[in-house]
Amino acid sequence: MRCPRRNQQFLAIVILTEAKDLLLANIQMDLPRDKDYEVTIRVGDPDEVRLERGDITKYSSDAIVNAANSELLPGGGVCGAIHRAGGPAIAEECRRIRSERGPVPPGQAVATTAGRLPAKYVIHAVGPIWQGGDRGEAGVLSSCYRESMRTADELELHSIAFPAISTGIFGYPVEQAAWVAIPSLIESLQSAKHLVLVFVVLFDKATLDAFAKAAISQPKPASGHPYKVSIAHYD
Ligand code: APR
Repeated sequence: MRCPRRNQQFLAIVILTEAKDLLLANIQMDLPRDKDYEVTIRVGDPDEVRLERGDITKYSSDAIVNAANSELLPGGGVCGAIHRAGGPAIAEECRRIRSERGPVPPGQAVATTAGRLPAKYVIHAVGPIWQGGDRGEAGVLSSCYRESMRTADELELHSIAFPAISTGIFGYPVEQAAWVAIPSLIESLQSAKHLVLVFVVLFDKATLDAFAKAAISQPKPASGHPYKVSIAHYD
């Protein structure tokens, strides 16, 4: 598996979740203001969730996730980028699935070919449209992440890359989306049989910062592996 990497100086700040309170006071200091960086959440051995800035269409993880619509039509945002880079084979398979099964409900996910993309599969997850937060949006968003992970694990894949589902055209506030995404991914990864590596690929630094803060601030697990968060700064 090969994923885009930049030359990086690894100035790791290893943060045990037990040190959460101390850390929360220093979050602004710990997140580089002007540089890109990568956050790794080690949730087991060798299971990791990695947050980094990038373009998901370039990722050669076994699957990349598309922030799709229920009709599985090529749209704008990350969906448009995936269809453009992957070519018409993705839309053709989407049309076939749509005509066989009908629309994909919000919170569900389906897998197709990745066409010309470096990934093997595209998993199309339909996120919630933000309607103020009291229409079950968090549950639907969590389901998107969990169903995508389940679909990839059933395909016996080892790695998967997610965008920040629903935070663009669908209007989900980024901070709130991060607080749904991170624990959903950690829990799904801990129970997965095949998946070991999850990338969360954030398109801009503000979104990376929001996801990084949510990662750093996750509460200590009640039992099981005490996960560690580390930050690698790029020069
Ligand atoms: N790589 C990674 N992230 C990207 C990329 C990319 N190439 N392009 C955009 N993004 C980011 C956006 O900046 C945003 O943070 O993906 C996140 C999700 O934004 P949208 O693509 O707008 O997805 P969403 O909010 O879920 O809206 C879905 O938009 O394109 C349509 O068909 C899609 O109707 C559906 C709706």
